[in-house]
Amino acid sequence: MRIALVADLHGNWPATQAISQALDSLGVEEIWFLGDAVGKGPSNAQTCDWVRQRCALCVGGNWDYGIGGKQFPADGYYWNQLGPERMAWLNGLPREAEVTVSGVRFRLFHGRPVTELMVVQDDKRKLGAAFHTELGDFGGVIFADSHRPFLRTLQEGYLVNTGSVGNSMGVPRAHALLLEGERDSAASAPLMMSILSVPYDNQAAVAIAMADDGLPFREAYVTEITTGVYSR
Ligand SMILES: [Fe+2]
Repeated sequence: MRIALVADLHGNWPATQAISQALDSLGVEEIWFLGDAVGKGPSNAQTCDWVRQRCALCVGGNWDYGIGGKQFPADGYYWNQLGPERMAWLNGLPREAEVTVSGVRFRLFHGRPVTELMVVQDDKRKLGAAFHTELGDFGGVIFADSHRPFLRTLQEGYLVNTGSVGNSMGVPRAHALLLEGERDSAASAPLMMSILSVPYDNQAAVAIAMADDGLPFREAYVTEITTGVYSR
């Protein structure tokens, strides 16, 4: 079974459309969402609705809870775009999930707890901590939040980041993780993990932002989607 994991769409509709078309052309059978459908970009209702329509498994991100839960008054722009029904859905998303593929038990989460770990990537003890929870031990951890895709192994197992669809750092293309194996199977079997990198019309995304004077931190958003350099 071919599965795609997507995250950090962040209201970037041209990027979301590009990754959606790529997943369809690749014959992806199921899409899982690891948080941050909304915030930062200008097309939040569209990216939120795409996640709801297309993703079979959903985990929330910090922006989903911040906006959906009305945590910050400065986010009124996003509240107006989304409305109460979408916001309630975002705020009700689970914090994490687990699924076993080809005999590897994966922990899935958005990864705010991992932000510090991203900074100290060479501290194996801190990276390894995410594999051990009250839910038990995992053979793989897949998360989002840093907006940078990567695949690596640790002594504990696989440590994988999905990257970002709409707000990629480093390389400003749309990214997703492809996972191919036996879903919900505890039997050891071949498993393939790969990073999908999709070009999109970054200038179309810029034009949508520049046509919207109300978008908070608009210049920073435009810089990020054109250069891949964090700018807030
Ligand atoms: Fe994010």
